[in-house]
Amino acid sequence: MDWGMKNRLSQLIQPDGRCLFLPIDHGYFQGPTTKLEEPGKTIEPILPYADAIMLTRGILRSCVDPAKTKPVILRVSGGTSMARKEELDHEGITTSVREAIRLNASAVSMSIFVGSEREHQTLLNLSNLVNECEEYGIPVMAVTAVGTELGKRDARYLALACRIAAELGARVVKTYYCEEGFEKVVRGCPVPIVIAGGPKVDSELEVFNWVYDALQKGAIGVNLGRNIWQHDYPVAMAKAIRAIIHENATPKEAQAIFDKIKSAKS
Ligand code: 5RP
Repeated sequence: MDWGMKNRLSQLIQPDGRCLFLPIDHGYFQGPTTKLEEPGKTIEPILPYADAIMLTRGILRSCVDPAKTKPVILRVSGGTSMARKEELDHEGITTSVREAIRLNASAVSMSIFVGSEREHQTLLNLSNLVNECEEYGIPVMAVTAVGTELGKRDARYLALACRIAAELGARVVKTYYCEEGFEKVVRGCPVPIVIAGGPKVDSELEVFNWVYDALQKGAIGVNLGRNIWQHDYPVAMAKAIRAIIHENATPKEAQAIFDKIKSAKS
């Protein structure tokens, strides 16, 4: 692996081999998502606990102070919106590699939609992006997207999508956690896997359990947004999840960290 590629990956994946990525890219198809109406304000208190942020160039330029930030994973795919939900798989590449370099991105990220009508198009998008990014030593993180079909998130589907992303050259794959068979998803994917959280759930312990179990089964960390920044106590969530990832805390210990911060705040 080239020095530049290694260096960029090591900005993202910490010396313990793990990572906490904070995605705030949701507006690229959802618009001003709840609690992300002003992304700069949302991330300010939680940024210290993230290893990297994932976002689009527009939000990076307008809402993030270049002097006070974290490594950037630049989302470079899009071109769809919730106004046409049935066409969420119709993504193209929106941002050039030249722009990613200008913005000093540590990695770029894009979605593939395996099993959708435009599977082929999105897989070629990934292949072409990898071809170009490898020239410059920029890692590509593939996002195994399901659009509104959240029910697709079972081990068989996720294993298929993750393996294809790795085969096409992604250096990291972002996927979803599934309770049954997640170890098979990891085993079949020769590059590191991080998990997203999906829509916010009611119980923080549920999130701690996912993260802990995913790590036990071989994930290297998370790319987790809404279950952190849509929570009423985002800093407590970020610190508790960070403890699971970087300090091997159990879900129970993470809950205790969360409760302590919450009660100090209330
Ligand atoms: C949106 C994304 C998000 O970055 C990803 O889904 C992670 O965020 P969350 O934990 O809120 O699901 O790729 O398409």
